Amino acid sequence: MRTGTASRTDTALMARAGERALPYGVAHPLSHTRQWRRGVVQEVAPTGILDLGPGYIEPALLPVELVRDAYARALEEYGSATLGYGHNPGALPLRAQLAARAGAQGGHPCGPEHVVVTAGTSQALYLLATSLAAPGDTVLVENLGYDLGQQIFRDCSLRPRRVAVDESGMLPEELDRALAGDAPGGDGVRGRIAFVYLTPTHHNPTGATMPLERRRRLLHVAAEHDVLVVEDDAYGELTLTDDPVPPPPLAALAGYRGVIRLGSFSKTLGPGLRLGWLETEPALAERIASHGLFVSGGSLNHITSLAVSGLLADGGYDRHLGVLRARLRRRRDTLVDVLRGAMDHRVRIRRPQGGFFLWLRCDLGLSEDDLLARADRAGVRVAAGSRFGVAHVPSVRLAFSFNAPALLKRAARRLTTAWSSGTPGPENGEEP
Ligand SMILES: Cc1ncc(COP(=O)(O)O)c(C=O)c1O
Repeated sequence: MRTGTASRTDTALMARAGERALPYGVAHPLSHTRQWRRGVVQEVAPTGILDLGPGYIEPALLPVELVRDAYARALEEYGSATLGYGHNPGALPLRAQLAARAGAQGGHPCGPEHVVVTAGTSQALYLLATSLAAPGDTVLVENLGYDLGQQIFRDCSLRPRRVAVDESGMLPEELDRALAGDAPGGDGVRGRIAFVYLTPTHHNPTGATMPLERRRRLLHVAAEHDVLVVEDDAYGELTLTDDPVPPPPLAALAGYRGVIRLGSFSKTLGPGLRLGWLETEPALAERIASHGLFVSGGSLNHITSLAVSGLLADGGYDRHLGVLRARLRRRRDTLVDVLRGAMDHRVRIRRPQGGFFLWLRCDLGLSEDDLLARADRAGVRVAAGSRFGVAHVPSVRLAFSFNAPALLKRAARRLTTAWSSGTPGPENGEEP
């Protein structure tokens, strides 16, 4: 095959995948997937590359018509109030909806006073890093975790310090040691510890979900040391398996004391909305919303908050989530099944309960650089495991969220061939 360029079958498959609209509204004549191009969106892989790298939703699964109607309805219902400065902690209709959902899902009462609307999790991390920490402070993070969150901390002059994890997430005894100041691997200078940052549900990159008992033990350790926990729950709404369901969020288990849970609509409705929220104890929520950013500018994303609150109220969001989860489940299962059926048994793959990612531990005698170079030559983009921290075996992350099942099958076959023989996957004989 020609690498790095589109094969005709790939291009046809991608076009077909892009045309399948979600089951609401009508497809606009100028399909939105055709606007998915460089200079408009964050990143576009070269034509023909099967991109399993970034944690994006496939363009055809982004609910363009649903969101368009939601903005129109918000403008009709709230009129000029959509264009005013929004209420500082976020418009009450959205906070009330979010609190009701959190209460129902987490099993602990939650009211609008627990909620502050943000412009997404990245912005919330920046806000916490600048308002609850001082330059030079330490943030305890998973030794395998969301790298870009750590970049935000570093850019705010904080010091991320890694705490060991196993396949269930952060280890309570290691957190205890780090908080007591006697853990190895520190940078020798121990500033104040501002907070602990972790992703206990549908983890990026490993896909792992922390069991209930581990959650309780971690919360116990954090409470003993009186340290704040920041729970990144960006994938919390994307459980793809009914049995078992993930345990409640840390925030709900702690009754919101000493924990800030971060939520986002980026992984469900679309990151272009730049809409998220945080949940925590009311006094801390009030303190956060008293930051000059809110006092000066009001709610962080006001018109979008009102549009999305309408979708939460009328069931449109939940109907969309149902469709999205089913589509993601099929993508996850396709990728896992094809890889497990064809890959060398030394490649360890766990089927995640939810989220966007598969984590492959590849004990094949190939270095991570080899794995990536061979994938690249075969026309498949994957994310390097080392980007996310310490991986003891060469590992890669594959996103199943960005491609239709037929393309995922194709990518899996190419990777299998590339990593087993050292030669890129053949184009001929590949079935869509
Ligand atoms: C764990 C995690 N947190 C946060 C984000 C970014 O979220 P947002 O788009 O809401 O800023 C991502 C996106 O990849 C993520 O994986």
